[in-house]
Amino acid sequence: MEVVISDRSAALAADAVEALVRGNPGAVLGLATGSSPLPAYRELVRRHDAGTGPSYDGVRCFLLDEYVGLPPGHPQTYRETIFRELTDALGIARDRVASPDPADPEHAGPRYEETLRAAGGVDLQVLGIGGDGHLGFNEPGSSLASATRIKTLTERTRRDNARFFGSVDEVPRHVLTQGLGTILRARHLLLIASGAAKAEAVAAAVEGPVSASCPASVLQLHPHATVLLDDPAASRL
Ligand code: GLP
Repeated sequence: MEVVISDRSAALAADAVEALVRGNPGAVLGLATGSSPLPAYRELVRRHDAGTGPSYDGVRCFLLDEYVGLPPGHPQTYRETIFRELTDALGIARDRVASPDPADPEHAGPRYEETLRAAGGVDLQVLGIGGDGHLGFNEPGSSLASATRIKTLTERTRRDNARFFGSVDEVPRHVLTQGLGTILRARHLLLIASGAAKAEAVAAAVEGPVSASCPASVLQLHPHATVLLDDPAASRL
């Protein structure tokens, strides 16, 4: 695992995405939502608008996770979020952005795994980390070999994500998430974390034992994982 402590995480993450797409215009990007990757997404959009980025016409995207129970088109669905924050601005057609289907949560997992396989798998998976070490929506206790499936959120994660909603009561209880086994199949994992609130989870993920009690510790099992941290997020290493 490569750990980079830098105040230029957004630029470094954007460099990694652009280098991949320049080398492989048909690359498959795995995209996380949440606040951690946002500065990197803004940097990609800024470069695209400035005319210095690559063409994203041939790129395909796969979302890491999605809420179950929000009406289609709700601004806090991860699908709408990623359109708004990244893919529309990069000119990636919406039908090239795949996500697990919350309308059919029972079958969505296996179908999503099949779509991922048919696309050849994810080349670069962007990840954040939850304050409890969750990856995607794989909460502590998730099987290290898990596939895309429906999960129930912990109260802590619902509270953490309440800032995107009017109140915690509006945060869905169920989600679909790529499993830890799914995430590990991506060819390059790029985890971005910033702020002291992530320091403990980052330390457990990077230096603790590989354990379901810290789902992000699976990065230690991956042959090509990069962790981009600012100083506060690295403060417990
Ligand atoms: C959510 C998402 C994760 C994300 C995590 C951290 O629960 N499902 O993919 O990594 O929160 O979010 P943030 O980056 O906003 O701290």
